[in-house]
Amino acid sequence: MKSISRALSLAALAAGLAFAATAPAGAAEGEVALKHAEWSFEGVFGVYDRDALRRGYKVYKEVCAVCHSMEYVKFRNLAEPGGPEFSEGQVKALAAEITVTDGPDSSGEMFERPGEPKDAFPSPYPNPEASAAALGAAAPDLSLMAKARPGGTNYIYSLLTGYVDAPEDFHLATGSYNLYFPGHQIAMPPPLSDGQVDYEDGTPNTVDQMAKDVAHFMMWAAEPKLEQRHRMGFQVLIYLLALTGILYFTMRKVWAGAH
Ligand code: HEC
Repeated sequence: MKSISRALSLAALAAGLAFAATAPAGAAEGEVALKHAEWSFEGVFGVYDRDALRRGYKVYKEVCAVCHSMEYVKFRNLAEPGGPEFSEGQVKALAAEITVTDGPDSSGEMFERPGEPKDAFPSPYPNPEASAAALGAAAPDLSLMAKARPGGTNYIYSLLTGYVDAPEDFHLATGSYNLYFPGHQIAMPPPLSDGQVDYEDGTPNTVDQMAKDVAHFMMWAAEPKLEQRHRMGFQVLIYLLALTGILYFTMRKVWAGAH
């Protein structure tokens, strides 16, 4: 009986280690504690919510893409398993909405063509300097943003819903006041307002919902293989448990003859 309980505690230890390795990073340090939303992708069994990803893409495309690039995401990624999983036809149509400068052709000229699934999301500005000149500060690329800031999606969600009037004693030189932006003064004007993006699936298009959806989408962009990683983590867990059991009973057998 004792041996079985010891085997179990060993297995629990192995499981604990495996869980610890997949646990998300700690929350942000900041003056104001971040808001926390429930994310379907959290935890060892976490998966992305396809509908949230599709709505989030729409928010990005119609609102954020006016100022921000997502240069590491290609249209064809939108059809891949583990993401928004648009059909090939939908992806072709989405890509064809943009115009891409390609070339040179055989006479050395650059030419314009409709976008194709292999193309990256378009950048609204040719370089960060142009973005800064137009907006007061460069709007950063959003491809990896969900991984680049402490707090990840909770930070993005908080930031997008964190615009309030500046306190009386705060000197706002330019831009807007945001509860969650370091230093509070941010060059990004409040990008979302209620009802701004039409949701075809009937989900209420409140600022809160759109902020969550676009953060969900940005998480997928930053970690498109999350679902595969979680599956792999689970397999490793099972493997560790099995290995622990086998090792334990082998050791018992080996040492049984020792005394
Ligand atoms: C009108 C242009 C504009 C729009 C639209 C816009 N942004 Fe921004 N965004 C900016 C600028 C400019 C900055 C840089 C702010 C600064 O450094 O003060 C920024 C910064 C950010 C940051 C980084 C904050 C940080 O911690 O550095 C995130 C995240 C962000 N935007 C997300 C979004 C999302 C998501 C949307 C769409 C819902 C969006 N933005 C729409 C201009 C815009």
